[in-house]
Amino acid sequence: MQQSTASGFEARLKQTADEVEAFLSDLFETKGAAAPNLIEAMRYSSLGQGKRLRPFFVIETAKLYGANHQSAVRAAAAIECIHCYSLVHDDLPAMDDDDLRRGKPTTHIAFSEATAILAGDGLLTVAFEIAAHPDTHANGSVRADLVHALSMAAGKDGMVGGQMLDLAAEEKESSDLDEIVTLQGLKTGALFRFSCEAGAILAEAGTEARTTMRKFAEHIGLAFQIADDLLDAESTAEQLGKRTQKDATAGKATFIDLLGLEGARTRANTLVSEACSALESFGENAATLKEAARFLVERKK
Ligand code: IPE
Ligand code: IPE
Ligand code: MG
Ligand code: MG
Ligand code: MG
Repeated sequence: MQQSTASGFEARLKQTADEVEAFLSDLFETKGAAAPNLIEAMRYSSLGQGKRLRPFFVIETAKLYGANHQSAVRAAAAIECIHCYSLVHDDLPAMDDDDLRRGKPTTHIAFSEATAILAGDGLLTVAFEIAAHPDTHANGSVRADLVHALSMAAGKDGMVGGQMLDLAAEEKESSDLDEIVTLQGLKTGALFRFSCEAGAILAEAGTEARTTMRKFAEHIGLAFQIADDLLDAESTAEQLGKRTQKDATAGKATFIDLLGLEGARTRANTLVSEACSALESFGENAATLKEAARFLVERKK
């Protein structure tokens, strides 16, 4: 066990957060904007807080494959925009109906429901604007690959599809393990998949590299959502900055439903071990990524 990796992980996560914050803050400029109130709502929904885990995985895997850092920061900002949009829409009254996010009122409470819907739409769209911009990569075919991977992660076969299954499951009597794995893999895993694959895309590392990173991502995505569900069951709004004890009341399909708290925790730890195994061939170069994988299930917020 290396002493330096823990602090290495924290420092790198903080650096990622700062870089993404600076990039988005520059991009979302209210001065001269056609609709300044929309930009205000987009800033409110994306700046200031958030663990920036998805950007972290973009930047770390990009480093692993030797991709350009500024390209990675742009891909990281793109996936964070999709994530922030997913949170704004997830919190709407028609969905999870939440009033607290990242320690402040949700966007539809702070602004209006219509503004929140549009801020979400704006964040979704700008992600593609960032990814497709020539500054992201000089090679147009790499940018096309990146945009394609982003679309697959965000849309009907990814996050949006998973959110649909999540809502549908509320109406069902029960869900089996395969159904829960599919649901969670789409609603949460898909954005992590993009995050881990983007570095390999930007580095033009080839199919095998992408397959390795997808395998790692599949495991950490599920582990991350189990941790989110455990925090919902066991933590507090003060600690998390969002409401808790909501999943059981809403009838959400979670691993906790089927496996119980301890069973779900064990499952999350097993998934992290499997994720780390997928990175074995990188040796010490993957130490920070493995540290991050463990953080996903040990985190307190
Ligand atoms: C919360 O994600 C939404 C889920 C997919 C469970 P995070 O826990 O990464 O949220 P932030 O970005 O840190 O607020
Ligand atoms: C949300 O899952 C996943 C998204 C695609 C946004 P949750 O509904 O469990 O996320 P929280 O707990 O509200 O952050
Ligand atoms: Mg939800
Ligand atoms: Mg929610
Ligand atoms: Mg949750």
